[in-house]
Amino acid sequence: MSSDLLDLTVLQRPDCASMLTTAIEWKGEPSLVPALLAGDGAAAIFTKPSLRTRMSFEAAVASLGGLPISFSAGEVGLGGRETAADIACTVASTLGVLAARVHHHSDLVQMAAAVDIPVINLLSDESHPLQALADLLTCVENWGALSGRKIAYVGDGNNVAVSLARACALTGMTMSCASPPGYEIPPDIIAEVNAESIVLEQLADPLAAVTNADAVYTDVWTSMGQEDESQQRRTAFEGFMVTAELMSHAKPDAIFLHCLPAHRGEEVAADVIDGPQSRVWQQAGNRFHAARVAIAWCLDPSGLIQ
Ligand code: CP
Ligand code: NVA
Repeated sequence: MSSDLLDLTVLQRPDCASMLTTAIEWKGEPSLVPALLAGDGAAAIFTKPSLRTRMSFEAAVASLGGLPISFSAGEVGLGGRETAADIACTVASTLGVLAARVHHHSDLVQMAAAVDIPVINLLSDESHPLQALADLLTCVENWGALSGRKIAYVGDGNNVAVSLARACALTGMTMSCASPPGYEIPPDIIAEVNAESIVLEQLADPLAAVTNADAVYTDVWTSMGQEDESQQRRTAFEGFMVTAELMSHAKPDAIFLHCLPAHRGEEVAADVIDGPQSRVWQQAGNRFHAARVAIAWCLDPSGLIQ
């Protein structure tokens, strides 16, 4: 039986562990990658801009032997020209996987409810699970075992932060998030990830968050769809830029992560993102490996367990 991947909440710890192991195996030995989508394909609908997600998802579908077909917002007209459910049923009539980047997470839920083929979240207002899987892969490549590691996230408690917190909960890591008042990770998410043990602490002070961290992570202050708030956000996030000085309070060998796109001089200083601690290009490259293993898991969730 296949599965959707709307959020990392669908994964149990063994699922996540086998996805990471398999992704690293396939990255090292591409001949091991099965042609799971041979004779089939996947539709990817983008109602917001994308470079990394579109590129990595299309490359992942092709690598699994399938045909990727991407659509922009105007081509599909989600919610205007056609309902989310009707779009999903149309894709399912022809292709084996549907993925979408949406403004409203509820559109993904409606798509998933309408069809039996896997529906994959390519970023919504609530979460960005494929990004978090790529982040985990990057951490594994840098550290080996993840359990006990600490990630500091400095900035907006947004979709990327939510998925990163869930990724930490799945792998035994902790996350210290520093955000200005009003921009914290939503309380229900904090309660969710802390249900079994304390994974996430929400702070207001970036210095407190990065102290002793193994990785420092940030994302844009203004996410796609929030452009009207950008000036207000620039003011609210003053003092939240990841600078070399802030990095110096993390562990000496701490790595810097950013999902990209980045704004040098806003959420991150140029000498950090372009400096020796930065792993952002490795992280971007891991989007492909994360997408590939995510599609494989969705097609057959038990098939990756070794
Ligand atoms: N990180 C990420 O999702 O990048 P894109 O918006 O370019 O897809
Ligand atoms: N939080 C950002 C992530 C971009 C990949 C956004 O939603 O625009």
